Amino acid sequence: MTSTLHTNFVGVDMPSPFMLASAPPSASPQSVARAFEMGWGGAMMKTIQYTPRFIKQNVNPRINAVKWGKQIVGFTNFEIGSQKTIEQWADSIRWLKERYPEHGVFVSLMHTDVLVEEEWKELTRIFDQAGADGFELNLSCSHGQAESGCGAVLGADPEMIKMVVGWVKSQTNKPVVPKLTALTVDLPTRGRAAKEAGASAISAINTISSLPGIDLDTFRPVNAVDGMSAFQGSSGRMLKPIALRSVAQLAAATDLPISATGGCYSWKDAAEFIAAGAQTVQVCSAIMEYGYGIIEKLNSGLLQYMEEKGFETIEDFRGKTLPYITQQIKLSRDYRLYASVDETTCVGCGRCVPSCADNGFGAMKIVDGKAVNDKNICDGCGLCSQICPTGSIQMKRK
Ligand SMILES: Cc1cc2nc3c(=O)[nH]c(=O)nc-3n(C[C@H](O)[C@H](O)[C@H](O)COP(=O)(O)O)c2cc1C
Repeated sequence: MTSTLHTNFVGVDMPSPFMLASAPPSASPQSVARAFEMGWGGAMMKTIQYTPRFIKQNVNPRINAVKWGKQIVGFTNFEIGSQKTIEQWADSIRWLKERYPEHGVFVSLMHTDVLVEEEWKELTRIFDQAGADGFELNLSCSHGQAESGCGAVLGADPEMIKMVVGWVKSQTNKPVVPKLTALTVDLPTRGRAAKEAGASAISAINTISSLPGIDLDTFRPVNAVDGMSAFQGSSGRMLKPIALRSVAQLAAATDLPISATGGCYSWKDAAEFIAAGAQTVQVCSAIMEYGYGIIEKLNSGLLQYMEEKGFETIEDFRGKTLPYITQQIKLSRDYRLYASVDETTCVGCGRCVPSCADNGFGAMKIVDGKAVNDKNICDGCGLCSQICPTGSIQMKRK
């Protein structure tokens, strides 16, 4: 069995399912060309706006690393769309497609602070003619632009999604891929609206609006620009559980291919996104931290996993997790567990005792230097097994 990473995403062939997300890694055609040479399959280019009316300058600084200890868990930013003109971008797309016909090059469009139908349509015609393989619609930017009524403000409204997808589709036969936001309680309805309007696939998710921290001496938020700050889009590792949920929800609700984005750092993350329904996986924060070179391990790790499992293409395991997701209310109430302590590895640190006692039950005690669980009091919640630093607590059937 020979496995291949070769992927056909919405009719566009790519040598790998890994794509650059629309962000700093896809802001320059020369850098994107370098990324393709290194093994990336495609790119969602940095978001383009209607520059005849809109070129705002980016602020300094605009990227902040969120750390737990020394580990970067993600970034927050208030970067806006590209500051290059439409003409510069059209030249860039032509330049890239001439040199890399076998890679996916999608433009990412977003409106300016005024929603103008003809501006969306004109942008679409320009990039259709420039040779873009398809259109990602940024209906999800959570900061900056969202404050001006763009991005996530549109993506939160099913009627707006339909309207904008319809405008773009009326000007091109190429695939249209709205990028949706997780900043809504009912993502499936937004996904179905995109499908109804004729979207070929959905990208999910974008950054999530946040305030990363406050300096307690000056009371200024972290990442201040000349003393003032603003809400910032969170990305990176901390986003992955939300992105994975969103991808699974959208895949189940629409049956459309999903281009996943949010916290992919390893081939395992990517394989999980594919199992949840993704056909391509976009990366931004991991590249911001480590550079394009991570693609070597992403590609080789995913390929090796597929070979070991006997999957010829990613289609062989795409969406395989979806049948195992149901509503919480439908989960079994007959499946009862208790915490079983392995005396041979328990070091008697006592971490499990307050976790159990202070969260409702008090089933754990330390007896003769070892944790002991009272099976009759234990409610089987699983908390102690999760916090045990030596992995000595297993959940077993009652
Ligand atoms: C500095 C920065 C700038 C970004 N700019 C854009 C953008 O222009 N358009 C867009 O759709 N998403 C933008 N994003 C969001 C990314 O494309 C991506 O959806 C998000 O960061 C989650 O992926 P990650 O966890 O791999 O970073 C940006 C993200 C960052 C960190």
